Amino acid sequence: MNILLLGDIVGPSGRKALTENLPDLIKKKKLDFVVVNGENAADSGVGITKKNVEQFFEDGVDVITTGNHVWDQMEAMDFISTEKRLLRPENLFKGSPGNGFGIFNSKNNKKVAVINLMGNIYMKKSDDVFQAAQKFIQKVQLKKNADFIVVDFHGEITSEKMAMGYLFDGKATLVVGTHTHVPTSDHRIMDKGTAYQTDIGMCGDYNSVIGMNRDNSLKKFFKDPSAIKHFPALGEATISGVMVVADDKTGLASEITPIVFGGQLESTI
Ligand SMILES: [Fe+2]
Repeated sequence: MNILLLGDIVGPSGRKALTENLPDLIKKKKLDFVVVNGENAADSGVGITKKNVEQFFEDGVDVITTGNHVWDQMEAMDFISTEKRLLRPENLFKGSPGNGFGIFNSKNNKKVAVINLMGNIYMKKSDDVFQAAQKFIQKVQLKKNADFIVVDFHGEITSEKMAMGYLFDGKATLVVGTHTHVPTSDHRIMDKGTAYQTDIGMCGDYNSVIGMNRDNSLKKFFKDPSAIKHFPALGEATISGVMVVADDKTGLASEITPIVFGGQLESTI
């Protein structure tokens, strides 16, 4: 079972790189299931529109996760109720529209559970993420309720993400972090067989400040009054994520490989 996770798709350049590369990647790497974080997909670099969602599915994405920017394009609040393949963080306050996890069919007809979580530290206020994860672990078990389990932990700080990886070790196929837009190089299989990387980076233009125009971002740091609202950098995007090979019998991971190519970052493939 080959599962691809791609980090936050940022703005028009991130979307373009996905559309241009994903169909080929699915064929070449024999991908059975593709998850992308789409919360920065809109033209403004925050939120996701119905049109973005439709294009991602056309490109070959199976499930879209999000995070703190999930409602920045208001229309998402409506269409998330009918589009089950678009997830919002599970630990958003009760009554939030949409779902935080689901069980989906892969391209090779396996059942893949995907959960989207959001950190509590330096993030928008939400329910306790570790309690939410614990509840999910009791509800959805590997090989009992799903063949494979994918965790996207959208969070700012590395310690919270590593602790979450440890909590899920042996209980999920993989745990990856998203949100910081900078990939870490700590990909590995943990003791009990769960693949892990603290952050899988963004699919966007790295000649930027985490995907946003760098001159304007710098002005903001200098509190220059001529700075305007952040807007995405539009140069060539790097595709950034990981591919995980998982064992059909156990649902656990046997390999995790960074998939990084195009744009500014050094290519791994
Ligand atoms: Fe985010």
